[in-house]
Amino acid sequence: MTIRTVGVIGCGLMGSGIAEVCARAGYTTLVRELNDELLARGRARIEKSLSGAVDRGKVSASDRDAALERLRGTTKLEDFDACDLVIEAATENPEIKRRTFTELDGVCPPHAILASNTSSIPIIQMATATQRPDKVLGMHFMNPVPVMRLIEYVRTLTTSDETLEAARVFGESLGKRIIVSKDRAGFIVNFLLIPYLTEAIRMLEQGFASREDIDVGMMLGTSYPMGPFTLLDFVGLDTTLFIADVLFDEFKDPRFAAPTLLRQMVAAGYLGRKTGRGFYDYQSGEQPPSVR
Ligand code: CAA
Repeated sequence: MTIRTVGVIGCGLMGSGIAEVCARAGYTTLVRELNDELLARGRARIEKSLSGAVDRGKVSASDRDAALERLRGTTKLEDFDACDLVIEAATENPEIKRRTFTELDGVCPPHAILASNTSSIPIIQMATATQRPDKVLGMHFMNPVPVMRLIEYVRTLTTSDETLEAARVFGESLGKRIIVSKDRAGFIVNFLLIPYLTEAIRMLEQGFASREDIDVGMMLGTSYPMGPFTLLDFVGLDTTLFIADVLFDEFKDPRFAAPTLLRQMVAAGYLGRKTGRGFYDYQSGEQPPSVR
């Protein structure tokens, strides 16, 4: 099957990045948000990112304009009736996701593939909310979507070979490398990343080393582009806590237990860059260590 029109549910950080890369790769792209204000905010984010790509010489000005031409916003799910593929990037709430998949199943053409960008919720929960469980898979993009070269695909017990193959062709057409995971919490990347990040928090909690030294250690010692605290602030402490809790619920393994400090920082609203304060206090001008 050929994918021409892509629907994206949600135009927040991940949804806007996904919509941007789809429109850039030549797909007619329709993004759905809950209201016009959120749509306008999402579109502004995409325009800013595309202009940044032009400034960096990654995209020509005419390609940016063509991508924006291919991009349309809506507040109505019914407008997805001509989509060949829908990628859901809404809030990480299993009930909302199941409801959205049931609605999409009723609206989208029978051949359409339905994907979720969830970072940890089992995809089978969404597949079984539809009458097409063979056409449902996980497509977990990495943040920032336009820059990161990976998409992690999640195959459930019911995902068909045809669906996976069509999705693979699509993902590669975005210029991304595809890896495939079975449908279990954390998939591949977060199963490894989350214990690493929470272990760094435990080191800090125990007074083992400073946040700066831990960050510099991982950047210069292992060539990670960001140290764990810089990455935690970038990903969001609330997102990290949510994924850690999902992993702990599924595996009951202390490796995944969220550190008290993480839980308390989330309760305090120190969520990272998005609130101006996380492990570093950006509001008061603090910056993570640079090793350039
Ligand atoms: N479109 C295309 N390319 C762009 C772009 C855009 N909108 N914006 C930037 N770029 C390119 C730049 O041109 C540059 O390319 P070159 O290397 O070819 O020069 C590259 O992206 C890096 O850009 P910058 O120089 O501006 O930024 P940087 O070097 O400081 O890197 C970063 C920024 C890419 C975010 C880097 O710090 C990084 O990789 N950090 C780690 C990010 C990470 O781990 N993400 C995964 C988080 S986990 C996740 O997402 C899963 C989950 O479920 C929690």
